[in-house]
Amino acid sequence: MAKRPRVFVARIIPKLGLDLIQQHCDAEIWPDQLPPSPDVLLAKVADCDGLVSLLTDRIDASVMDAAPKLKVISNFAVGVNNIDIPAATERGIPIGNTPGTLTDATADTAMMLLMAASRRLVESADDAKAGRWKTWEPCGWLGQDLVGRTLGIVGMGRIGLAMAKRCHHGWGMNVLYTARSVKADAEKEVRAKRVELEELLARSDFVSLHADLNDTTRGMFNAALFAQMKKTAVFINTARGPHVDQKALADALRNGTIFAAGLDVTDPEPLPPDHELYQLRNCVIAPHIASATIATRNAMAKLCVENLLAGLRGEKLVACVNPDVEAKRRT
Ligand code: DGY
Repeated sequence: MAKRPRVFVARIIPKLGLDLIQQHCDAEIWPDQLPPSPDVLLAKVADCDGLVSLLTDRIDASVMDAAPKLKVISNFAVGVNNIDIPAATERGIPIGNTPGTLTDATADTAMMLLMAASRRLVESADDAKAGRWKTWEPCGWLGQDLVGRTLGIVGMGRIGLAMAKRCHHGWGMNVLYTARSVKADAEKEVRAKRVELEELLARSDFVSLHADLNDTTRGMFNAALFAQMKKTAVFINTARGPHVDQKALADALRNGTIFAAGLDVTDPEPLPPDHELYQLRNCVIAPHIASATIATRNAMAKLCVENLLAGLRGEKLVACVNPDVEAKRRT
């Protein structure tokens, strides 16, 4: 890199990442808590060679066309549903992401939500704080057991398997899964059984969603799917909010079609404080914190910057979501 490349970093990421960027690049770092508006983003990327984006930044063809020198987009996330991947590939721009860095933190969050929703932790703690804890009640705040039950993983990738391991090795759960292909590692490590979605919904006590968000999975958890689940089932989503028809979920929780839900992701984010899901005592909602541990965010920052710098040098990214871009890379 003879001349220092120009880079726009769309938010303050952990210091180790920013230090590395500033060591190698002329960087503008967006200082606000909230994302730059689409217009501001267009202006900021105009003469940039590299862009560090977040899942809250919509990176579409208009952003790419506003930045004719852009050689790389490095997303500070494993999910890349905020980026128009075909548009980037068409323009010869590789996209980096951060797979593997947040597997355990996300599976821990799925587990935490599963336990909190199953054992009614948030509603009982709220009751205690509000003075509604009158005595030890034999029939109060009764929840669901975990040991020996059945876990259904929808989307058996890295995070799905990490969740399955926690449930199988920790609580002796049987594991069912759906995936496009057989997952030999899951079948070996947690004796998981691949089944059709219909069977998974009918047999699972806990349904944990870990699929990518794309045109086939958007809105997949609708009224018809919730109706196929057990009345005692607990639904967990740490993937993306738009997988779920939230009106249908609210109805299913209100009507007792399912027992409870634990969500780390919603649509939109943030979910407005007056949203009906917040009114439901059997719905636990976290503000997309699955990867929010110090070590995980540092690991994400490191990989994100490695991708950025590799892209600026014209090298292969450490983790690239559109490797077929290589044939037409921008130089
Ligand atoms: C991701 O990286 O896609 C996660 O949702 C961030 O927590």
